[in-house]
Amino acid sequence: MILPIYLYGSQVLRTPAQEDDLSDREGLRKLIDDMIETMHHADGCGLAAPQVGISKRILVVDGNDLTDRYPELKGFHREMINPRFTFESEDRCSYEEGCLSIPNVDAEISRPKKIRVRYVNTDFVEVEEDFEGFAARMIQHEMDHLEGILFVDHASPIRKKMLTGKLMGITKGNVRTRYRVKTDKK
Ligand code: NI
Repeated sequence: MILPIYLYGSQVLRTPAQEDDLSDREGLRKLIDDMIETMHHADGCGLAAPQVGISKRILVVDGNDLTDRYPELKGFHREMINPRFTFESEDRCSYEEGCLSIPNVDAEISRPKKIRVRYVNTDFVEVEEDFEGFAARMIQHEMDHLEGILFVDHASPIRKKMLTGKLMGITKGNVRTRYRVKTDKK
């Protein structure tokens, strides 16, 4: 089922998400399936549960549409329940980021180059995994969503200033998307 995506300005995007207690496995699988379908429908490469209005620590990423720029992402996808960083490198790098909740906005964002994440997978097994390159980037962007943080928060002061008007417009729902969106007002 394709779910509407909450836009910048929505309270749920600013609320730290809760761990899931893993008691309703069927419900979790359904939510993750819906998130994957919603992400693909919107041509996104990642989605976090708060973006569909659910304040839980769940994220999905899929790099298969990005293989023109990042061939190493062929076949890369992850579905993570209750992810936590167990390592973030001091080494940083910059990539251009965007977000389905902030349509038509992008910015160069600096983040740790390598990360290690402990999470529960869709077989309900706890795993710990290292990521680097754009895969690490995608996961860090989605992990931020679980803390109520958005990529524009990390933009340079000058870029932030340039984006103020656009962000204000999105908050008011003045934005055109090919996918269904939601704000607190409508
Ligand atoms: Ni995002």
